[in-house]
Amino acid sequence: MTELPAPSASPVWSADGANLVVHADNAQYLPTLPDASFSMIYVDPPFNTGRAQRRQQTSMLRAAPGSGDRVGFKGQSYSTVKGILASYDDAFEDYWDFLAPRLAEAWRLLADDGTLYVHLDYREVHYAKVMLDALFGRDCFLNEIIWAYDYGARAKRKWPAKHDNILVYVKDPAGYHFSSDEVDREPYMAPGLVTAEKAALGKLPTDVWWHTIVSPTGREKTGYPTQKPEGLLRRAVAASSREGDWVLDFFAGSGTLGAVAGKLGRRFVCVDSNPQAVEIMETRLAPWIGSAP
Ligand SMILES: C[S@@+](CC[C@H](N)C(=O)[O-])C[C@H]1O[C@@H](n2cnc3c(N)ncnc32)[C@H](O)[C@@H]1O
Repeated sequence: MTELPAPSASPVWSADGANLVVHADNAQYLPTLPDASFSMIYVDPPFNTGRAQRRQQTSMLRAAPGSGDRVGFKGQSYSTVKGILASYDDAFEDYWDFLAPRLAEAWRLLADDGTLYVHLDYREVHYAKVMLDALFGRDCFLNEIIWAYDYGARAKRKWPAKHDNILVYVKDPAGYHFSSDEVDREPYMAPGLVTAEKAALGKLPTDVWWHTIVSPTGREKTGYPTQKPEGLLRRAVAASSREGDWVLDFFAGSGTLGAVAGKLGRRFVCVDSNPQAVEIMETRLAPWIGSAP
């Protein structure tokens, strides 16, 4: 078991400070950050292994009726929803215990007009949707983005799964930041059916994003096994934050969010508990870390 630095040893974040790469367990580090500090949070948590994750007390997020906590899912208490889900899948209880307190911190850390992107795979996404509805409220669900790619072998006994899911939640459905003007556009499938001006401009992406995986031989590749393509995060960062805003990734891996943020003039905090991830981020994000913008 790797010894992680205590939160007090981690770099201190401040709104006018420098971009940060932090080596810590996010459960320890996130509580050190002030409320409402980030316009956009992207997380790509490890998938549910059911074994590798540490159990925590299930009462941590109990929302007793009338306690003032948010209560989602038709007003049932948070723990009731969790109990129902756990009855379908034992491993899910561990996953919930691991993820829910961290996503609750994400809610606290989001600015009032902020947006959370949670990157999942098809096995987790439905459970996580219910978890996030309970945490944020169903009305705060903005989108489910499908990242479609085409890589690897094709199963013959079922439809080959070639997509990930990104759930998008806003803190305030009546007042969130979203700028479609900043987003890269896509070519029309049938450009002959629209005017030449429209064809040249391209069309706004929908909630289905076709994008290649990080090429094993490409420029972007860092060697980190779960690295996600910058093109995906570029869209999310461009739409859901402004230049100079702070963005956060607390399952940061190779630091894809930090790289995109740096290139788009956003400020970032990237947290990971794995020393190899931190080493890779320190190299990849070197142009943007260490000095205040
Ligand atoms: C799927 S990877 C993220 C990959 C990243 N999106 C990228 O593009 O490279 C998940 C990351 O979460 C990190 N992680 C897992 N548990 C953690 C924890 N408790 N605190 C901080 N990081 C954690 C892992 O070390 C891993 O790097």
